[in-house]
Amino acid sequence: MIFTVAIDGPAAAGKGTISRAVARHFGFAHLDTGLLYRAVGAKGGDPVEAARSLSEADLTRDDLRTLEAGQAASRVAVIPEVRAALTEFQRSFARREGGAVLDGRDIGTVICPEAEVKLFVTASAEVRAHRRWLEVGGDEAQVLAEVIERDKRDAERATAPLKPADDAVLLDTTELSIDAAVHKAIEAIEKRI
Ligand code: C5P
Repeated sequence: MIFTVAIDGPAAAGKGTISRAVARHFGFAHLDTGLLYRAVGAKGGDPVEAARSLSEADLTRDDLRTLEAGQAASRVAVIPEVRAALTEFQRSFARREGGAVLDGRDIGTVICPEAEVKLFVTASAEVRAHRRWLEVGGDEAQVLAEVIERDKRDAERATAPLKPADDAVLLDTTELSIDAAVHKAIEAIEKRI
């Protein structure tokens, strides 16, 4: 079966948690596409070259989850040639046999406009920053400022900006528990399977 679930949204809205749970529930493969941009940003040097030569080892570095890596990712993510170099890999992952869940910023709009299900996961900036702060620690106000700065860069860039696809199901997790958010996502997918 070929079946693609596209899950987009701003930083720390719950996309990763929901994607992993949904993939497990339906037995689909999962690709966290943010990791590709984080790996390009972390590699240093010319980002276009980094994107073209990205390897498995680049994706398994353990410094990819930091706030700095998130900022570096969103800076290289504005470069059209970087995005182009990562497109084919994401598209073939999406159409692999057995079903796939991809989470990111432009999956429903650019990478997989034909995805069978599109979810756009959001939450208030404060709640998202609080969740991220629980993971990374430090100064919560600083985490909030970084989340807002990154969302602004992602939403305002010319190529593949962060926005819901016209046919995306909106899922606001501000006041939802993880279980409740996952349940709603599964329900939305079951309607189309
Ligand atoms: O989702 P995550 O926080 O790991 O993404 C890091 C950054 O990578 C985002 O802020 C965004 O700039 C970029 N990104 C993107 N398109 C995607 C996934 C991530 O531009 N599909």
